[in-house]
Amino acid sequence: MDFSELVKKRESVRKYSSRIVEQDKIDMCIEAARLAPSACNSQPWKIIVVDDIALKEKIAGLTYDNIVKFNKFVHTAPAILVMVMERANLSSLIGTQLKNINYRLIDMGIAAEHICLQAAELGLGTCMLGWFNQCKIKKLLNIPKSKKVPLLISIGYPENSSTREKVRKSFEDIKSHLKY
Ligand SMILES: Cc1cc2nc3c(=O)[nH]c(=O)nc-3n(C[C@H](O)[C@H](O)[C@H](O)COP(=O)(O)O)c2cc1C
Repeated sequence: MDFSELVKKRESVRKYSSRIVEQDKIDMCIEAARLAPSACNSQPWKIIVVDDIALKEKIAGLTYDNIVKFNKFVHTAPAILVMVMERANLSSLIGTQLKNINYRLIDMGIAAEHICLQAAELGLGTCMLGWFNQCKIKKLLNIPKSKKVPLLISIGYPENSSTREKVRKSFEDIKSHLKY
């Protein structure tokens, strides 16, 4: 599969089959994150693989509540990757202060997309999750209070093999040439 095909194939999967994901495939996804670029090569991430059914169910239950229910589908995923934001190195921290740009969040986003693209190449589905009870998930996984968890990624074999048409702004909407 070439890159543009892969980009089209990657989509948010919200229904998974019960098939267990092979550990080596999860490891390939983590390896793709490891190789991701980051500001000043800071690599401010740690990824916790939650594939124990009971623990995964507890985490899935913390991605929705009585009011916001759209993440209920996470229960169908056989595994969840928990992206922990680690300390940046000094150069990246200084850059963040001076430029007022949160490079660590950018880094985490890139690493997350590396994971999702690698997963798609392996026939796996993923969904990035930005809505969850961070505090309770940190407690459950013994993540130090001082650290942030900006993102979870559900991962598993998709229930459905067809891909959707992407809903996106038009090309003209997002491209300009030489000026805004
Ligand atoms: C930072 C971030 C947070 C997201 N959080 C959620 C979420 O909590 N629940 C969900 O179902 N999808 C979530 N998504 C997936 C987006 O809804 C999805 O990427 C977007 O609608 C485009 O669809 P596609 O991924 O299928 O191409 C998130 C995506 C990103 C990048």
